[in-house]
Amino acid sequence: MTRLAATEALDTFLRRTLAIDDAVLRDVGVDNGRIPLHTPLFRGNEKAYLAECVETTFVSSVGAFVTRFEEMMARQIGTRYAVACVNGTAALHVALHALGVGRGQAVLCPALTFVATANAISYTGATPIFVDSDPTTLGVDVDRLATFLETRCTRRDGAAWYGDLRVSVIVPVHVFGHPVDLDRLLPLCAEWNLEVVDDATEALGSTLHDRPIGGFGRCGAFSFNGNKIITTGGGGMVTTDDPELGARLKHLTTTARLKRGVHFEHDEVGFNYRLPNLNAALGCAQMEQLPGFLAAKRRLAAGYRDLFAGVEGVTFVDEPSGTRSNFWLAAVLFDDLATRDRFLDETAALGFETRPCWTLMCDLAPYANAPRADDLCGARSIWERLVNIPSSAWMMRD
Ligand SMILES: Cc1ncc(COP(=O)(O)O)c(C=O)c1O
Repeated sequence: MTRLAATEALDTFLRRTLAIDDAVLRDVGVDNGRIPLHTPLFRGNEKAYLAECVETTFVSSVGAFVTRFEEMMARQIGTRYAVACVNGTAALHVALHALGVGRGQAVLCPALTFVATANAISYTGATPIFVDSDPTTLGVDVDRLATFLETRCTRRDGAAWYGDLRVSVIVPVHVFGHPVDLDRLLPLCAEWNLEVVDDATEALGSTLHDRPIGGFGRCGAFSFNGNKIITTGGGGMVTTDDPELGARLKHLTTTARLKRGVHFEHDEVGFNYRLPNLNAALGCAQMEQLPGFLAAKRRLAAGYRDLFAGVEGVTFVDEPSGTRSNFWLAAVLFDDLATRDRFLDETAALGFETRPCWTLMCDLAPYANAPRADDLCGARSIWERLVNIPSSAWMMRD
């Protein structure tokens, strides 16, 4: 059987246009000859900053790099506060906890997300309600969410109720860095008194009308996992403009310890969620390179856009209008599941790491019985048709 035109196009682009061969791969630390989906690049001050941590012995959660990394993130997102966490899941969890989310409440989140979004909601004791996604943004389908609120929720004391659960928060997810339609989502949230905790874990550097994603809701949550646009090994951050919330987040992530000299006093059940200085050192060095990573990913996206525009049966997932995506992971959509699977098999055989979207939350064992806002047909259609393709910043050399 001949290969799909999309497979041939990707092969030519990666091996000939970008000329990614074993030597290029070895140079960026890949020694198995396969073109990975996404790997980090350490070409800045990483080693110097890490050495500084070791030499000064500040390797744990107290240290100058943690504060510096928080300041860099607050500046980048345009919020007054940024609180470093051990990972993005912890960032989401502590943000929800700080807003008082817990048992007896429901939190809306897309069915099409990484499991961490739903897990963070579950850790609080709240019930996730899965909402549908829009194939043009890959994020919350605002029309379908409005229909759910109007037809399946009741309004009491200005809030939305789903049966006896108060629907208190929504966690929109900016999938692969593409901004959600916040222009329409935020007014709907205001109308229903829903707090917004933005899962911006994949969207560092993305903007809507030139405003950074992660600065729109009550809180934004970021991840610096090894596969993200910048990495701290493992790490996360909560951003907020609210001084009281910023202080509370810092308190909660540092075991809720009071400043009482040498004494260990804690005024509530806190979390050991503070990012170690070692990881923050990596974060500072990586943040310095963020503009370069963003520019490289834009050039790579432009290359993919041009490439797939001329190929039948495949659509490049582009940034929604009015937004700038960080193009963290490039993605294409096929017409159906069978073609998606054929592309996955063919590209794997060629040595390219390609990946389907996450299994929908409602199809996972822990969430099989969680409520769904509707039939989630948009999310399912995306899941059936989408494939992520190699997206590392180093692929686009100057
Ligand atoms: C959408 C989404 N939410 C949450 C997370 C959790 O981040 P972390 O892996 O740092 O806990 C990730 C990243 O892995 C993610 O992609």
